[in-house]
Amino acid sequence: MAESFLPTPGNSRALRAAFGRFATGVTVVTAASERGPVGITANSFASVSLEPPLLLWCPAKLSRRHDAFVTAKHFALHVMGTAQDALIWGFANTAEAFEHSDWELSEHGVPLIAGCPARFECTTRDRLDAGDHTVLIGQIDRVTTEADAEVRVFLDSDYGHFVAS
Ligand SMILES: Cc1cc2nc3c(=O)[nH]c(=O)nc-3n(C[C@H](O)[C@H](O)[C@H](O)COP(=O)(O)O)c2cc1C
Repeated sequence: MAESFLPTPGNSRALRAAFGRFATGVTVVTAASERGPVGITANSFASVSLEPPLLLWCPAKLSRRHDAFVTAKHFALHVMGTAQDALIWGFANTAEAFEHSDWELSEHGVPLIAGCPARFECTTRDRLDAGDHTVLIGQIDRVTTEADAEVRVFLDSDYGHFVAS
């Protein structure tokens, strides 16, 4: 049965549920901050441009981690695999969930997590004010892929995997 509504502050849960009908992957974004390496689980990732190579993701202004990512000159965006749920859940809860992973620091001090289906090392290019989020556009400096890693999928607030049909 179809339902229709006007998106108002009172029904942002319904808007969130409608957004959730779009299947995404799950990423973990990392950066260096004053209090050390930080990470966050995010599904607001989108590819933007091939030439120049650009991507975006959106930290929420209400997040305690927002300012660390918005002020960072560099970040890494990791597309997460089905073997990396501890990291996905860890970085949904805390900015410092690195103990669940094999990682190293880039030359810019950005944590780079190993074993991800895809990883994009970026320089922050634009910061766009957008309602209750900030849109961060990154210039992609390096790409690392792991062809054998299966991609984690997020749909309707639930985690799954992709089956081609
Ligand atoms: C699947 C998933 C996707 C998420 N996507 C985003 C996102 O795109 N942007 C964001 O700011 N937070 C996102 N979050 C929420 C953060 O991971 C984290 O839970 C939140 O920032 C916690 O609040 P804090 O930063 O104040 O500790 C997502 C969480 C999950 C589980």
